[in-house]
Amino acid sequence: MILLSPQAGCWYRIVETLGGGGMADVYRCSLVRSDGLPASAQFAVKVLREAWDGENVLRFSEEAHLLRRLRHPYLVPAIQVHLEHYPPYYVMPVMKETLAEHLAGMKPRNELYRAKYALEHFLLPVCSAALYLHSRKIWHRDIKPQNIFLDSAGKPRLGDLSICHWSRPFPFERTWCGMGTRGYTAPETLQTGTASPQSDIYSLGVVFYEIITGRLPAYYWWNRAGNRPSVQHPRSCHPHVDELLVRMTHPDPGLRYTSVADTMRDMRLLTDVYLPSLPLYRRVPPPPRVPEPPPNVYALLAGLKNPSPAQSPYPSGYLAALLGSPPTPPAYQSGYLAALLAQAARK
Ligand SMILES: Nc1ncnc2c1ncn2[C@@H]1O[C@H](COP(=O)(O)OP(=O)(O)O)[C@@H](O)[C@H]1O
Ligand SMILES: [Mg+2]
Repeated sequence: MILLSPQAGCWYRIVETLGGGGMADVYRCSLVRSDGLPASAQFAVKVLREAWDGENVLRFSEEAHLLRRLRHPYLVPAIQVHLEHYPPYYVMPVMKETLAEHLAGMKPRNELYRAKYALEHFLLPVCSAALYLHSRKIWHRDIKPQNIFLDSAGKPRLGDLSICHWSRPFPFERTWCGMGTRGYTAPETLQTGTASPQSDIYSLGVVFYEIITGRLPAYYWWNRAGNRPSVQHPRSCHPHVDELLVRMTHPDPGLRYTSVADTMRDMRLLTDVYLPSLPLYRRVPPPPRVPEPPPNVYALLAGLKNPSPAQSPYPSGYLAALLGSPPTPPAYQSGYLAALLAQAARK
C-alpha cells in the first residue's frame, strides 16, 4: 500500500508491519520522493483500519490531533496528520520497541528491574507525561506496557491516546464501560467507563508492580505477604515501595493518591532517600588510588626502533636528537617570535 502525502511529490511506502490494535494498524514506512529516490528517513505510520465507521474516524482524528498538538519529552509525538486521505493516517517517529517487548525480552534471562531503576527509568518519566495530560484534563485510560514505547535512545514515551477521555466541545460524551485493558485499567473504568487522575494512577501502579515483580497484582495483593515486592526482593525493595503501590493500586479510587504530582513526590522520596539505604544500592567506596609514577618518555622512546630516514615523517636525526638531549624547538626559542613579528612588520 502507498500512502500519499499532500506535500507535492512525496509519499510513504510501507516497509513492514509494526503492530496493530483495536482500530488501527501501524507500519514502518519510508518516505519516497517524486524523483523515485527513497529518502533515507523512516517513520511509523498509524492507519485507521475500518475507515467507513464514523465513530472510528472521529476517535482516530481526535487521537491524531491531540498527539499533534501535545508536546512533551515523554509522549510519542505525531509529526504529520493526514485525515483527508483514505484511509486516514498519521505519522510518528519509529520507536525501538514497547515496554512490553522489552520486559518480555528480559523474562527468559530471569531478569527484573530493581525498584530504584524502575522508578527512575520508567515510572517517573511516564508519570510526568501523565501529569502533563492531566493538566490538560486528558485521562489516558489505557496505560500499560504495550502503550509505553522506548525510543531510539531508550527513553520511555507514553503513546496511544485512542481511548483517552478528555473534555470535548461536543454535546455527547463517549465514555462507556468495558473500555481499557483488563488487568491494567482501573476497575471503576472497566465497570462504568469513568476516568479520573486516580484511574491512570491505578494503571501506573500496575505497570510499576509488573516491572519489579514480573507479574500483575491481584486485587488486595498486599493481604498475602508473599505478594509484597519488599518481601520478594528485600535487598532492593523498601517496605515503603509496598505502601506506595497500595496507594496506587487500591481497588477503591478514594483510597488512592489524589494526584500524579503527589505520587511522584513519594516516588522521589523513595529513589532519593529510602531506596539508596538498601544494601543493593549502597555504593562501595572505590579502592584508594595509588598515584602512577610519571611516564619516563625517554625510556619509552629508547624502546622504539628508529625508523629508516625514508619512512620517518620527521627530519632526519630528529629521533636520535630526541634520545640524546631534547632540542628546544626553534619556535619557542627566546626572541624567535619577536623576530618573526618584526620580519612580518617589515614586509
Ligand atoms: N511509533 C511507533 N513505532 C513503532 N511501533 C509502533 C509505534 N506506534 C505503534 N507501534 C506498534 O503498533 C502497536 C499498536 O499501536 P497503538 O498506537 O498502541 O495502537 P492501538 O490503538 O491499535 O493499540 C503497538 O503496540 C506497537 O507494537
Ligand atoms: Mg495500543
